[in-house]
Amino acid sequence: MSRRAARPVGDDTVVLGIETSCDETAAAVLLGPSDVLSSVVSSQIDRHARFGGVVPEIASRAHIELITPVVAQAVIEAGIEDGRIDAVAATVGPGLIGALLVGVSAAKALALAWDVPFVAVNHLEAHLYAAFLEEPDLELPLVVLLVSGGHTMLVAVEGHGRYRLLGQTVDDAAGEAFDKVARFLGLGYPGGPAIDRVARDGDPAAIAFPRALLHEGLDFSFSGLKTAVVNHVRAHPDVSTADVAASFQEAVVDVLVTKARRAADGLGARALALGGGVAANSLLRDRFLDACAQDGRRGFLPSRALCTDNAAMIAVAGWHRLREHGPSPLDVGADPNLRLPLL
Ligand code: KG4
Ligand code: ZN
Repeated sequence: MSRRAARPVGDDTVVLGIETSCDETAAAVLLGPSDVLSSVVSSQIDRHARFGGVVPEIASRAHIELITPVVAQAVIEAGIEDGRIDAVAATVGPGLIGALLVGVSAAKALALAWDVPFVAVNHLEAHLYAAFLEEPDLELPLVVLLVSGGHTMLVAVEGHGRYRLLGQTVDDAAGEAFDKVARFLGLGYPGGPAIDRVARDGDPAAIAFPRALLHEGLDFSFSGLKTAVVNHVRAHPDVSTADVAASFQEAVVDVLVTKARRAADGLGARALALGGGVAANSLLRDRFLDACAQDGRRGFLPSRALCTDNAAMIAVAGWHRLREHGPSPLDVGADPNLRLPLL
């Protein structure tokens, strides 16, 4: 355990965050709970695009190449001395095991070399914390709609580290649906931003795609929608791709916003926030804010760069974890199936 482990965590604590769970190599330096001194994200998109998705072995190798320059750039851009870093936080899961191991090993090595605490961070918890980074005073309980490539969940945040799962997908994640539909439509990878772009020229009312479970509870299902898109395009080969993209996006956003609202109503929550890569979607952002305004509820949208994978969110989750629970032991391993700790 580090000599400096006992130092109190406060507004002057500097945390280096490292994220390598999927296809972004990222490092960020955070001062206190909300002052991002630097945030570097090196995307590997061009290395995976021609395969139509993330190739785990390519991701691991790319992280190995990129981790040192990305961390160095984050430290340089932060304008601080190495000796000023008080803790190193890294994503330990969920994610691709070979990818996670690169960031976890680098973080442990730096923590050992600098004699500072290592902090193991849950990637999903970090997505929730992205909201608090820009808006530390969000009212609790806060309902967060966490929509990423691997997860779709509605979470009630009752306090730091206190989460209740309100609903989740029973099959595909929302981002996965965007990626699969984009791939089928030949729009390339990653699919979410491509559909977002193409949908601007389409008619969202052109095709009435199904909204699974719309009137029931808080769980989601997107695999039927994906099949409906495939069946529609096969039956109408001349259909406009923009209309399909716009109608698909409309169906996803309709379900996401309806359920987020229902969850916040059920809990009497005064605030609702978005998190995860799909929260960068333009239509979702607009509809979400409209719904919150209509309901007289505080709606918070993290900036797009904080919605998709980044290390600033890892650093802030690490800052809070260090303050509440102290350092993590150096024998904590990476866990590809790590779950959100629930009440
Ligand atoms: O949170 P994230 O960066 O990585 C994971 O933890 O999964 O989310 C990536 C997902 C991908 O499925 C990507 O297609 C989706 O977020 N995404 C979007 C948009 N930007 C990224 N989906 C819809 N519209 C977007 N603008
Ligand atoms: Zn993510």
